[in-house]
Amino acid sequence: MVEHIDKFRMQNDLRYRFDFLSKFINFDQNDVNMLNTLAPIIFPLLPALVERLYKKLYSFDVTKRFFHLRNDGFESFPVNREVGITLDFVQTEYRKDMFSVYLKRILTQGQWDDSFIEYLSRVGQMHTPKGGSAAINVDYMYMNALFCYLEQLLMEVIWNAESLDQRKKQEAMEAISKFICIQNDFLTMHYGATWNKETSCANIPIVRLTKCFFR
Ligand code: HEM
Repeated sequence: MVEHIDKFRMQNDLRYRFDFLSKFINFDQNDVNMLNTLAPIIFPLLPALVERLYKKLYSFDVTKRFFHLRNDGFESFPVNREVGITLDFVQTEYRKDMFSVYLKRILTQGQWDDSFIEYLSRVGQMHTPKGGSAAINVDYMYMNALFCYLEQLLMEVIWNAESLDQRKKQEAMEAISKFICIQNDFLTMHYGATWNKETSCANIPIVRLTKCFFR
């Protein structure tokens, strides 16, 4: 039995898109409950975890540069270098706080209702010129990389959690991986194509496959 999915509806109906993706990856209320179970385990470690994420973003000029841009709400922020109050410093501290708030919401949300999935979509959109500051257009490559790093850090926490048995650890890792897949989709959908076919791999001949394994 093949279920019909309206792919045009998926492009403008967030709930419909979410329902399809959830079914495909088997994301359900058990995963939401699992994320809630992780909240008290992850919360005390959040400040250190967010520090590590930002340290990573600050390790490379291509990712660090986004924090030199003036974000929404900071248009008229007064700078006082003498006492160490720079726009970069204040914005970064604010972003760290917002990232913690974001992770706390993911871990405490009891029902993934319409307003919550709209929030996830808004977080994705914020990194493109379509949302937030017009100057912020984070290359999807960096987003994907940070998702991977975030997943590694969360897996590390779960792996070391003494209060979870092996089975719960596995369920927790699955729930995290599904949440990241959903957030990643709710980000990707706001991007256009970022791959430039004309200039990439010009010396490698294109081999046309006649058959795809999955077709
Ligand atoms: C795991 C992937 C990521 C997640 C979940 C995430 C999450 C968030 C959240 C929740 C906000 C909103 C803060 C608020 O409410 O004001 C935000 C804003 C922002 N993020 Fe990310 N972020 C990710 C990756 C990145 C990367 C890779 C960069 C840059 C290299 C970046 C740069 C920014 C900037 C500059 C803003 C401010 C946008 C604005 O104010 O218009 N983020 N992010």
